[in-house]
Amino acid sequence: MSIVKDMSLAPSGRRKIGWVRDFMPALGGIEARFEKEKPFAGLRVAVSVHLEAKTANLGYVLSKGGAEVHLTGSNPLSTQDDVAAGLADLGVETFGVHGVSAEEYERLLIETIKFKPHLIVDDGGDLVHLLGGKCADLAENLFGGCEETTTGILRLKAREREGILPCAMMAVNDAKAKHYYDNKYGTGQSVWDAIMHTTNLVVAGKTVVVAGYGWCGKGVAMRASGMGADVIVCEVDPFKALDATMNGFRVMPMDEAARYGDVFVTVTGCKDVITPKHFEVMKNNAILTNAGHFDCEVDVAGLAKMAVRREVRRENIEGFTLSDGRVLNVIGEGRLVNLAAGNGHPAEIMDMSFAVQALALEWLVKHRDGLEKKLYQVPAEIDDQIGRVKLAAMGLSIDTLTPEQEAYLNGWKA
Ligand SMILES: NC(=O)c1ccc[n+]([C@@H]2O[C@H](COP(=O)([O-])OP(=O)(O)OC[C@H]3O[C@@H](n4cnc5c(N)ncnc54)[C@H](O)[C@@H]3O)[C@@H](O)[C@H]2O)c1
Repeated sequence: MSIVKDMSLAPSGRRKIGWVRDFMPALGGIEARFEKEKPFAGLRVAVSVHLEAKTANLGYVLSKGGAEVHLTGSNPLSTQDDVAAGLADLGVETFGVHGVSAEEYERLLIETIKFKPHLIVDDGGDLVHLLGGKCADLAENLFGGCEETTTGILRLKAREREGILPCAMMAVNDAKAKHYYDNKYGTGQSVWDAIMHTTNLVVAGKTVVVAGYGWCGKGVAMRASGMGADVIVCEVDPFKALDATMNGFRVMPMDEAARYGDVFVTVTGCKDVITPKHFEVMKNNAILTNAGHFDCEVDVAGLAKMAVRREVRRENIEGFTLSDGRVLNVIGEGRLVNLAAGNGHPAEIMDMSFAVQALALEWLVKHRDGLEKKLYQVPAEIDDQIGRVKLAAMGLSIDTLTPEQEAYLNGWKA
């Protein structure tokens, strides 16, 4: 039985799910086929992805494909209670309550996998962590899964090196149809959407420090710059730093950038990126946010220790007053800002990411017998197919290589 905050919120959740479904045509096409072909008939699928409307749509589509779906969130602050209720109302077993403690969050994850899934959809590796560890007894049917994000894939690679993957896993994040759009344009837009509506402040003219110039960081920096901010990039990779310079951004270490920033966005997937030595030199009223998967990029606990006072200043903004009177503002407890204080990526973007999820799961089912406990890349045909469907849905067409051009590109004689 579903565990949600309040089933009376279902009508609002169903409206949100209905809205995004209108803007997810690639997944919609897959749903229509799944409904006929039922590729997941007889299979149990556990999903742990930020529990908001687009994820609910993915869960619903998998259930239309014949799967018994159990779905939970992947961060207690990103779960939307009305969407959880709406999804439960649509007949998908849902286990998610906004803002629960770490212990309760884990209990909900465990509730989600108690039905011993055959397949999982993970976002950041929480399901794999449980099924490959303290809940290994629930993994007896498990034969495959998909991982949504960069941080989760780093962990899967580490597990693969140690030979402790609980099943075959697909690196969904590494598909072109995923990270080129979701990480760059999705994070680029939704991070600013969340920061702007949460703070109700202007971006133009501010100095924005972006830590990490990977796929996500590029999007965040590009959109900040587009809105008139002065962008500083902090990196550890010389080529990413050079790339940022070539794109017109200032590059410097965080130790230096800390003094200049009005708004900070960490998106490295690393830990301890902004720490007490940085808080010491920051401007009064600086705004601190994180968009990386885990809340270990900004040392909020360290800031709390330094603070003489801590208070809620607006919804989702906590102010920490330091002994010299400066206030530093943290949005969404330092958890990924676009989900903890926003609605996540735009529906059209998640359409592509979740189309990859749906087709990658189907691929795992088709190849079930030959699977090994290793990390698989999403087959190029799936990537290509989603790119073409998306272009068509946007009313765009592109050129096609002639046989002569193909031969020219693949040969060496001409
Ligand atoms: N908020 C979202 O909606 C969202 C969406 C997709 C991915 N993510 C998460 O965002 C994080 C980044 O993802 P990505 O796809 O951009 O990864 P990426 O590997 O493309 O980029 C990360 C960048 O951070 C840099 N970096 C690492 N440690 C650093 C440090 N200590 N200081 C400065 N720079 C450092 C790396 O050199 C790299 O260029 C991951 O945790 C990922 O799971 C979040």
